[in-house]
Amino acid sequence: MSNLESKTLNINDLRGLAKKRLTKALFDFCDKGSEDQISLRDNRRALDKIKLMPRVLRDVSKRDPGIELFGKNHDLPLIIGPTGPAGFVWYRGETCLAKAAEKANIPFTLASTSNTDMEKVILNGGGTQWYQLYVWQDRDAALVTVKRAQDAGFEGLVLTVDSPVYNNRETDIRNGLVFPPTIKLNNAIDAILHPRWLFGTFGRYLVDEGHLPAFSNIHVPEKEKTNVSGYVSAASKGFLNRNETLDWDFVKRLRDMWAGKLLIKSVLHPDDAMMAVDCGADGIFVSNHAGNVNDTAITAWDALPEIVKVVGGRTKIIADTGIRRGSDVIKGLALGADVIAIGRATLYGLAAAGERGATRAIDILDAEIRRTMAVMGIVDIPSIGRDHIRLARELAVSGH
Ligand SMILES: Cc1cc2nc3c(=O)[nH]c(=O)nc-3n(C[C@H](O)[C@H](O)[C@H](O)COP(=O)(O)O)c2cc1C
Repeated sequence: MSNLESKTLNINDLRGLAKKRLTKALFDFCDKGSEDQISLRDNRRALDKIKLMPRVLRDVSKRDPGIELFGKNHDLPLIIGPTGPAGFVWYRGETCLAKAAEKANIPFTLASTSNTDMEKVILNGGGTQWYQLYVWQDRDAALVTVKRAQDAGFEGLVLTVDSPVYNNRETDIRNGLVFPPTIKLNNAIDAILHPRWLFGTFGRYLVDEGHLPAFSNIHVPEKEKTNVSGYVSAASKGFLNRNETLDWDFVKRLRDMWAGKLLIKSVLHPDDAMMAVDCGADGIFVSNHAGNVNDTAITAWDALPEIVKVVGGRTKIIADTGIRRGSDVIKGLALGADVIAIGRATLYGLAAAGERGATRAIDILDAEIRRTMAVMGIVDIPSIGRDHIRLARELAVSGH
């Protein structure tokens, strides 16, 4: 057993290692939600309140946690979702995540606000990769990025639609983690107190590449760049403000130009799920975005039943937020999701130990999924159904 394996029995242990290695500001950025953290807490509570209903004596000696998704076989019912700071928590962290996903044979999603050129992530990471799109002030600039992602070979485009304005992350404001970045005394002290991150990640960009990590997968027109640090200058001019005017016509436009799979991320209302299907989406992410955006928004786990009722079978349903155990994955699938996305689980692993840590996170979930399948009497993912769980209200009615 490796040192990392013996130190990390579960995802929470990886979180602990990430907390030690990262600056406080960066760790909080990865770990906390917006405003009062209510959605963040609810995401876990919703999962904890769902109870598993096992079946017994079913010969579970051969179990297969693999799935088929968009015509490809994957070894686990998991996707690595987009997480913006991957390249900030580990040097070239996006490629590490992509490699870990490739090794586990699950899809990886590259975030808009990533720091490694998308072409390099595709080339060096391998496997099945999707690109996640935020649309900034200039829609046409976003479409340049979409074309670039298509040329680079991304198989899926994930349009995140729940953030027409920036989220209100008070923890980050208090920690001085603001954009465009400014160096303040407390951030400098925080960095000095975390030398493994300061020299192993931040400093490595400076030494190996001669510059700080930039948003290299966002197209910024030349006219917006006014100095050496083009992205920072564009941001100060408001270019990187989110686009408040997006509507379903934009989705149709994307559908027309994107030949690969189109997925709409962070849908919670069943009518929006239907709209996405009507606009030709191949999949939707049912998600409240890690509790990072709209505090007190409903959780994916509470929203799923209605969404499954209206679009189940017509589009692929991916659900996320709060997944820390293999049993959580089984619960999400029993609620009707086709596949489950993870964000923090692999981000903590990455922050703790790079690609090895991300792989450790997937291995932990893999072992827990297989173990849960055994104790549930489940031999394969398609046979997971609604009868494998009981919701709190169902237990209340039956007098438990
Ligand atoms: C630190 C952090 C950054 C994220 N960045 C993005 C992003 O850039 N784009 C996006 O669509 N979702 C982003 N997400 C949301 C994830 O894709 C995913 O929905 C969420 O992390 C799932 O919840 P979990 O972290 O509890 O697994 C981010 C989440 C976290 C925690």
